[in-house]
Amino acid sequence: MAALCRAAVASLCAPRTLPSALAAVRASSAGAQYQHILVGKKGEKENVGFIQLNRTKALNALCDALMRELGQALDEFENDPAVGAIVLTGSEKAFAAGADIKEMESKTFQECYAGNFLSHWNRVATAKKPVIAAVNGYALGGGCELAMMCDIIYAGDKAQFGQPEILLGTIPGAGGTQRLTRAVGKSLAMEMVLTGDRISAQEAKANGLVSKVYPASQVVDEAIRCGEKIASNSKLITAMAKEAVNGAFELTLAEGNRLEKHLFHATFSTIDRKEGMSAFVAKRKANFTDQ
Ligand code: CAA
Repeated sequence: MAALCRAAVASLCAPRTLPSALAAVRASSAGAQYQHILVGKKGEKENVGFIQLNRTKALNALCDALMRELGQALDEFENDPAVGAIVLTGSEKAFAAGADIKEMESKTFQECYAGNFLSHWNRVATAKKPVIAAVNGYALGGGCELAMMCDIIYAGDKAQFGQPEILLGTIPGAGGTQRLTRAVGKSLAMEMVLTGDRISAQEAKANGLVSKVYPASQVVDEAIRCGEKIASNSKLITAMAKEAVNGAFELTLAEGNRLEKHLFHATFSTIDRKEGMSAFVAKRKANFTDQ
């Protein structure tokens, strides 16, 4: 990938956070400079984009500048043909403690409305490549919403998820009321949104918010492993599969099934579909070319 700031690499390689997962980060000479995130590529084939939120002292509170950098890093990974999946993580204490309250404190309705406040956060949800959230510590408010914009959530065993906006006199504003409800159902979502109470990683797993729970020190490595697995498949077909599953959140069953059928049929126009089936019949490993 094009973007990797040298200072960020030095910081990434420091042993204070997630040591095993950081070893494979490589510097790129021509790179964007990021202030609030660390960006690199991971995996044996360096085919997994890696973004670590890096406002540790503020528990990765999601200030506007951070979210813009995140969008920029996603753009770069989306444009990098070598990258097949992206892992997004925070620190061991906090994936992210929410939107930056200090930045929001003095905002007016007029500013929020006219500027369509938080609308650019949606960049994460619109990524074409699969994004895996590796969540340790707090995923609160916008942090929980950010994780839910990702396609897969892996949680460390000490992770906590919550939508505490009600305690600040506001409500979730980055999709929390919608995505949480679709993930865990009405009763638990309503309870979390109305009380601000958090749930543990284990509760999040039991209720379908996260797919796997690992010891905190392993969750990033496991997310990268999952990313490598995804990246080893056809990127073209992976994008179609992601589009089809996402259809389930926005369409009726009939519309969703129609979308799936169109995409399924479309795979038959690709070289990778032919290669995948020919390889199976010939009892050899498929060699996908993303065509
Ligand atoms: N915004 C700005 N700063 C934040 C922050 C946030 N969301 N969360 C934590 N911080 C800052 C604190 O102000 C503190 O900074 P200082 O050292 O300069 O005082 C630093 O991070 C450490 O935080 P604490 O001292 O509070 O750490 P703690 O371990 O005692 O508590 C916590 C941790 C329970 C997560 C607590 O920080 C907390 O409750 N944070 C706010 C969580 C929250 O309400 N999130 C929702 C935000 S609104 C939102 O996200 C809207 C939306 O839908 C997009």
